[in-house]
Amino acid sequence: MGRMIKIGDIVLKIHPLVYEPAEDSILLMDNLVNVRGKKVLDMGTGTGIQAINAIKKGCDIAVGIDINPYAVELSKENAELNGLEVCKKVFFFQGDLFDGMDRVMEEVGIDRFDVILFNAPYLPTSQEERLGDYINYAFDGGVDGRRVLDRFISEVGRYLKEDGVIQIVQSSLTGERRTFDMLKKYGFKGEKTAVMRFFYEEIQVITAKRIQELF
Ligand SMILES: C[S@@+](CC[C@H](N)C(=O)[O-])C[C@H]1O[C@@H](n2cnc3c(N)ncnc32)[C@H](O)[C@@H]1O
Repeated sequence: MGRMIKIGDIVLKIHPLVYEPAEDSILLMDNLVNVRGKKVLDMGTGTGIQAINAIKKGCDIAVGIDINPYAVELSKENAELNGLEVCKKVFFFQGDLFDGMDRVMEEVGIDRFDVILFNAPYLPTSQEERLGDYINYAFDGGVDGRRVLDRFISEVGRYLKEDGVIQIVQSSLTGERRTFDMLKKYGFKGEKTAVMRFFYEEIQVITAKRIQELF
């Protein structure tokens, strides 16, 4: 039996190769937009925490995606631990960002999401700092911290409804201005909607809406 933690009313099993929810996870949970009746995508689901939280806050359907197969299995277990039936309202799939998303949407039976969340791997990480296992995906944002985040922003619009909302968690080390510029390039206007300050960085929730339809 793995170690268990409790965050609010959510019980989670923890796995050594899956990101253990931390301040950034809680910041996103606590600042989630209204998801009641909405279809929510939780990119990089980890333990499944954001998808489970979205269901508990009344969303219609939540889909969690993670590149880490241990995360996908753990998320399913955690959803069940919290009384949710997997493949009814909450679904989990392995995937590299939006690769394979068309198949996922078909399987779940939806065409676009109302809300897309991503607590991204945002730490600037050099080759020498990389961890040699699946857990590396939780932290490694490439040398400037933006590798996964920029790819996410460039692809997310295709899967979001016209009036949909994106919520990203990142660090000030990743650069909020660069995130705003990247969002603008892909037709979104972002604003910082929550922060948590630490000695050397600020963890930020950036909430974005579409300013123009590019897809
Ligand atoms: C900082 S953790 C966040 C986990 C969880 N959402 C939370 O809030 O606690 C980032 C997650 O993104 C996943 N991830 C990293 N790169 C990915 C990619 N290219 N496609 C899908 N998931 C990815 C990692 O495996 C990890 O679970």
